[in-house]
Amino acid sequence: MVARPEKTAGDFFDLAVELCGLPLATPLMPAAGTLAKEALDGAREVYGAMLPKTVTPGPRVGNPPPRVAEVPSGMVNSIGLQNPGFERFLQDLDVWNIGMPLFVSIAADTVAEFAAMCERLAGDGRVTAVELNLSCPNVEHGGLQFCAGPGTVAEVVAVCREVLPNKPLFAKLTNEGVVANAVAAEESGSNGLTLINTIPALVVDTQQRKVFLRGGLSGPAIKPVALRAVYEVSRVVEIPVIGVGGISSGEDVAEFMIAGATAVQVGAGSFVRQPQEILDEFAAYLRKNGLRTRELSVQNQPDSGRLR
Ligand SMILES: Cc1cc2nc3c(=O)[nH]c(=O)nc-3n(C[C@H](O)[C@H](O)[C@H](O)COP(=O)(O)O)c2cc1C
Repeated sequence: MVARPEKTAGDFFDLAVELCGLPLATPLMPAAGTLAKEALDGAREVYGAMLPKTVTPGPRVGNPPPRVAEVPSGMVNSIGLQNPGFERFLQDLDVWNIGMPLFVSIAADTVAEFAAMCERLAGDGRVTAVELNLSCPNVEHGGLQFCAGPGTVAEVVAVCREVLPNKPLFAKLTNEGVVANAVAAEESGSNGLTLINTIPALVVDTQQRKVFLRGGLSGPAIKPVALRAVYEVSRVVEIPVIGVGGISSGEDVAEFMIAGATAVQVGAGSFVRQPQEILDEFAAYLRKNGLRTRELSVQNQPDSGRLR
């Protein structure tokens, strides 16, 4: 028997994955909205791709406080897509361009606004791929979220696809109706899917006897739900899935990849742990099991037609 060479955490070959033809040095990316510019220093060695906070056409001040609450096994946030707006975002984008594929997450009130942003991003050489944040209200459909149903998912993805023919397009979906929405996104030209966004949640203050916060739940509490979404969806679509929801350890990364994810995003987990530790644990898991990242998921093996 030929001995396997020693594998280390920093071994590019072992940790690398291919996502829509993009080589990523590691399967980890930050989840949209959870990596501060100030934390970019250590990002180069950890992530395979970069992803800043969702940007909208115009600036948004976000929601009034309170905006976050800690809950058992997670947190609830109601930041409200605070961002400086698309023009200012593009002016400052170089900060995020740190020598790895750069994904840009966008949200808008109308399909036309989504399309206008995609058209600009298609011509911006710094941008590798676009993630559509479809968990935002669609003003043309009574404020229902774009991912409220397959019809609106299909509409926005198709229009964005048309003006962005040259870059991978990812639809980021919520858990509700995820399989039907995922199929609609794939049929409309999405190259990949990001699953899942936060889950609607409420925090109540019993002392004041009032609602403290109405927002989105993230963190370990949603991990089994996100795993289920990744598993169900990756069985019915051919496009790759990025798993996100409650990842805070290397074993969590492995769980998502075994469930069918090609890559993963780390969100709230990066507030409590160093992403480098998560990557090191994942590398240790691979080493212990004599695996490379791409060998982890049966569904991601080339002979099953899943590696795209
Ligand atoms: C503080 C905070 C801000 C977020 N901002 C965004 C955002 O701008 N765009 C987006 O698509 N998702 C946003 N999310 C959702 C995350 O990207 C992710 O989908 C979700 O939190 C689940 O992953 P996690 O449990 O690892 O945090 C945000 C989450 C948190 C906690």
